[in-house]
Amino acid sequence: MKVSFHVNGEARALDLDPRVTLLDALRDHLQLTGSKKGCDHGQCGACTVLVDGRRVNSCLSLAVMHEGCEITTIEGLGTPDNLNPLQQEFVSCDGYQCGYCTPGQIMSATGMLAEAAEGAPSHVSDSLTGKAELSDAEIAERMSGNLCRCSAYPFIREAISRAAEAEEK
Ligand code: FES
Ligand code: FES
Repeated sequence: MKVSFHVNGEARALDLDPRVTLLDALRDHLQLTGSKKGCDHGQCGACTVLVDGRRVNSCLSLAVMHEGCEITTIEGLGTPDNLNPLQQEFVSCDGYQCGYCTPGQIMSATGMLAEAAEGAPSHVSDSLTGKAELSDAEIAERMSGNLCRCSAYPFIREAISRAAEAEEK
């Protein structure tokens, strides 16, 4: 089955078995191996990418469902020589140990900051309207779909908080 979408701003066309997940299409067909396969069951968030700006567990989504979509993977943010602000803060705060979950954490944080900026509440927000303050608890709740088996969580939250503060300035 044919599917066409944009990946990191580039038009890509694939002819895939309809059962191929978005994650496998990215990793195995487009050689974009930044997105990781942790659990392959929607439980760890290592495969998180943005589809039309929204966070998606790409292991749970079929590639053919995304005709015409804009897909962003970790390769579409910064480069090794020119990290984007979140990537830079993950380095500065030691927000990783093995690094396996890191691409998913950074993609999820990218989507999460956009959701928060739009005023979307979380389960721990005081109010359902207005912009929530990105407290430690607020960031933890919004990032709860991303697991880090090395437990770098405090540093991950600090990195996100610092990137959010810098974005607001
Ligand atoms: S690999 Fe997709 S959620 Fe774990
Ligand atoms: S840094 Fe190792 S799983 Fe997150």
